Amino acid sequence: MPKQVATSEMKLEACNKLELRFKQFGLTVTDITILRVGSGSRPHVARVNVDGQYGVVKDHSGCDPLFSRLLGKLLTRREMRALYQLDDVEGVPKVIRVFDARSFLMTDLDAVPFRGSVMEKDQWSVFFPKLETLIHRIHAEGVAHCDLRSLDNTLVTAKGNPAIVDFVGCFRRGKNWNILTCWMFRRLCAVDYSAIGKQKKAIAPWLLSSNEFIERRQESVFSRLARNTGVIIRKLARSMFTR
Ligand SMILES: Nc1ncnc2c1ncn2[C@@H]1O[C@H](COP(=O)(O)OP(=O)(O)OP(=O)(O)O)[C@@H](O)[C@H]1O
Ligand SMILES: [Mg+2]
Repeated sequence: MPKQVATSEMKLEACNKLELRFKQFGLTVTDITILRVGSGSRPHVARVNVDGQYGVVKDHSGCDPLFSRLLGKLLTRREMRALYQLDDVEGVPKVIRVFDARSFLMTDLDAVPFRGSVMEKDQWSVFFPKLETLIHRIHAEGVAHCDLRSLDNTLVTAKGNPAIVDFVGCFRRGKNWNILTCWMFRRLCAVDYSAIGKQKKAIAPWLLSSNEFIERRQESVFSRLARNTGVIIRKLARSMFTR
């Protein structure tokens, strides 16, 4: 399902809902900039100032009510666990404050998604190796992102550096003795790396190496399976838990 384009009315409504939520927590929120209007299976995401604390709030109560009730807590917990695990990694948001089981505040990366960013050709050739290093660092901490094919989850900071958000769908490496989860983890790390090829193709196709070029044409069965599984789960969840 294509993402809905948020109108100013939808953003205003999201602002009002967030204000109300913070009022319930006994907190004052100002300077709200909506980054993502929540609906269906998606949360509200907004830049905010909460009692003088700046950051980005992600609030799963902005999803459809049934979805929020059934999966909101689980998704929030999944994302926060990954962010805590990646606390030392620059280019990944840090959890600043937890408001309740469905919403938390994280650092603002001062960055825009890939899709909307404009850079010179030579800046992209500096950017992509840095992105590979960042993904490698995330994997080294035991987290595979699993949703880097979306051009909205990789961001470009004001300084032109890569940043990564949205760890809801991530996979964390299990214990060393667990052969199955370790195998899965390695495969999903490979899927993350192959997503870089897709990103290059969309943003800077001249940077595709010959290997990546061939890989783009012969996408691995596993990577296709992982992607399709993600799409099916999302569609199923959406049709079961949203109106
Ligand atoms: N910590 C952050 N700093 C700066 N921008 C952020 C941050 N977190 C999220 N964003 C912005 O908000 C957008 C939506 O956030 P996120 O991807 O986490 O939510 P989502 O539910 O997956 O939304 P979507 O389905 O649109 O990707 C991101 O594409 C990014 O532009
Ligand atoms: Mg996202």
